[in-house]
Amino acid sequence: MRSMSHYLPLSRVARLVGQPRSEIQRMIHNDELVTFDGMVDMNELLRVFPDVSWEDDGEFRRVQEIKEKAFGKRVFERALPDKEVLAERLFELGKEFAAAKTLLLHYHEVLRFMGDKLNDVAETGGAATHDAVTGLKHWLKRELNAAPQEAERAEALLAQESVMRIMSAQVTIQPTGHEFFVEGNDTLLEAALRAGIPLNYGCSNGNCGECKARLVSGQVKKVHPHDFVIKDAEKSNGAFLLCSFTAITDVVIEAAVFGASDIPEQGITTKVKAVEMLGDGIAALHLTAPRSQRLRFLAGQHVKLSIDDAEGEYYVASCPCEDRHIEVHVRRDNRGFSRKVFGNLNRETPVRLEGPHGEFVMKLDSRRPVLFIAWDDGFAPIKSLIQHAMSLEIAEAMYLYWAADGVGHYQDNLCRAWTDALDDFIYQPMPNNSGPKVVAEAILAHHPNLQRADIYAAGPAEFLAVLQAGALAHGLSPLGWHGEVV
Ligand code: FES
Repeated sequence: MRSMSHYLPLSRVARLVGQPRSEIQRMIHNDELVTFDGMVDMNELLRVFPDVSWEDDGEFRRVQEIKEKAFGKRVFERALPDKEVLAERLFELGKEFAAAKTLLLHYHEVLRFMGDKLNDVAETGGAATHDAVTGLKHWLKRELNAAPQEAERAEALLAQESVMRIMSAQVTIQPTGHEFFVEGNDTLLEAALRAGIPLNYGCSNGNCGECKARLVSGQVKKVHPHDFVIKDAEKSNGAFLLCSFTAITDVVIEAAVFGASDIPEQGITTKVKAVEMLGDGIAALHLTAPRSQRLRFLAGQHVKLSIDDAEGEYYVASCPCEDRHIEVHVRRDNRGFSRKVFGNLNRETPVRLEGPHGEFVMKLDSRRPVLFIAWDDGFAPIKSLIQHAMSLEIAEAMYLYWAADGVGHYQDNLCRAWTDALDDFIYQPMPNNSGPKVVAEAILAHHPNLQRADIYAAGPAEFLAVLQAGALAHGLSPLGWHGEVV
């Protein structure tokens, strides 16, 4: 054996090699990368990615930056963790290095003792024994002095991984298996929401206890005080609040991930951040939720908006991972709410929001290729779903077909940016003036076999009906169909 085994979790492997997690999972699925208990041996990583330069993570940064830009998320902050968290992470890493050093000193002693014993055997044995022992000693010395294969690359990889572990901690959620990283000063709840993982929570400031989770392994640290009282018996069983704690080391937690039916109806007064004209007949209304009351929703859901007595129901077009930002697409028509948006709507105007509503949401455990299909402004929920899927890196490959005529492909540049940023994203804009049947047939012609796929489609009922029938005829499982009449 030439180098020590060192195992890395999948999410960290993806970061180290600058690939999406879904790509790493695809490689594992195809036996291109071997794992042990869901972890990758460092030697295996060096074997499979011989060309990756560990010393420079520029490629990873580049992909991250493009993704951040393409998702329209906050500017990527490489914020250092809080001082105390940083100190504890360094301390933990120091403990690991101290343990490794102690082990090395112990091995050194064992070797020294063995050397003395071999000398004794050589002196007391005959000539043949003397020669055998001398040969063994020479072999041992040569092997101990030889640099392990790939020593430089292994060292660079370990150094890079150590820096990553200081900057961020990896969190694995049981029983769903979701993974995310805690960076900067984020609490576990903030980091999960940024990653688009819908963990259960309520007040987000330590009062309600809704975000209670259980620590299975690793270390967490309280970074915000909380009023909610956790009983001692629960505490000793690992209970803590996600909105008050951050992770010091990589952790495994037990926490509730919610579905559409678990989300309570919320009433929030948001404020207009901007009205962005996307074309003649459609505008993006950007709203900001109050700091203390972010909207809990899942991608694909819709909300009721009202300004004074003008109201309307709109799909959220932004990702649940976008913190307080909410985007909806409003068509120009004669309805009161539309007239307000296309009139003179000032920044900071209060907009009442109620919701979320609807069940057109993503299956978070699917790892299959996904076809997203939008008809005209059915693009709004599809956009939210795509951004959520990107954020969670859950799909093996993504295809976006956008059939538009009336309102045009009003966010064409964004879709092209996704194509540029991701290797496994294919965007196909198409006209829809030839009718639902022709459009459905054109899309399905690209996918003769849909047995291993999921479809999320939003558009008029007539289009969905022909598309669904065609997709099932191409082998789509009925469970893989998710259609929303828009
Ligand atoms: S969300 Fe209310 S205590 Fe954490």
